[in-house]
Amino acid sequence: MDTAPTLKIAPNNAAFHTLAADIFMGALNRAAAKNGPIRVVLPTGSTPLGLYRELIAHHAHRRDLWDRFHYVALDDYAGLAPDDRRLFSNWLARDILTPLSIPPTHRTIFNSAAPDPSAECARMDAQLDSNGIDIAVLGLGTNGHIGFNEPGSAFDARTRLIHLSADSLAANAAYWGGMDHVPPTAYTLGLGHIMRARETILLVQGPHKAEILHRMLHDPISTALPATALRQMYNVTIVADQAAMSAAEPSPQT
Ligand code: PGA
Repeated sequence: MDTAPTLKIAPNNAAFHTLAADIFMGALNRAAAKNGPIRVVLPTGSTPLGLYRELIAHHAHRRDLWDRFHYVALDDYAGLAPDDRRLFSNWLARDILTPLSIPPTHRTIFNSAAPDPSAECARMDAQLDSNGIDIAVLGLGTNGHIGFNEPGSAFDARTRLIHLSADSLAANAAYWGGMDHVPPTAYTLGLGHIMRARETILLVQGPHKAEILHRMLHDPISTALPATALRQMYNVTIVADQAAMSAAEPSPQT
C-alpha cells in the first residue's frame, strides 16, 4: 500500500475517458478477488460522463463483475421527491446503473425526502461502517471539495447534511437551468468514510481544474482544501488530462 497518489495522464479528451475506464476496470477486477458485493462510490458531474459511456460501450459484457457491483451514493440533494430527476441517484441511474442493469437492490442511496435528516445520516453511517467502500471514484471541485465535503470539512467527518457553498451552487446551476433550481442542502458521505476506501480513483479534466489540482498536490494538507485528504489515503490514482496537469507538474509522466 502506498500513500503517494499515482498520476496517470491522458493527452486528450478521448484518451482521458478510455484511460479512466481501463483504470476503473483494473480496480474492479482487483476488488472482485474478495468474495461478495463490490461496493463502489460513483460521482456525478461532467467529468465522469465519458467514463460511464466507455463502460457501457466496451465493458458491459463483464456480467461476472456487474452482477456483484453495488453502487454507494457519494452525495445527493436533500428534500427532493424520489422521482425528481435532479437527484444524483436518478442521474446515475440514467447514465450508468440502468444501462448496466444494476438493480435497485444493489444501490445504497440517500432517501432525499427522509423526514429526519439526522436519522438518515445515521442510517448511511451504519451502512458504511459495516460494509465499507471497495472503490471510490471521485471528482474534484474547483473549490477543492470531494463530494459535498466543502472547504473546512473535517477529515474524520461522518455522513451529514450540508448547505451548498456558493461555488457549488454556481457549478450545479449549469445542470438545472439556473441557481433557483439548485436545492440549497445536500447529504454527503464524510471524508472519514471516503478515506477508508480500499482504492480511490480521482478524475480531473480540463484547464479550469489545473489550479486546484496543483494546489491539491502541493499545498499543505489541510481541511481548507478537502482534496488534500487524498494525500493521506492508500491506493489513490489520479486520472487527469494534459490540460488539468498543465499547472500541476512541470513534466508529467504518461
Ligand atoms: P465536474 O464536478 O465533474 O462537473 O467538474 C466535479 C465536482 O464538483 O466534484
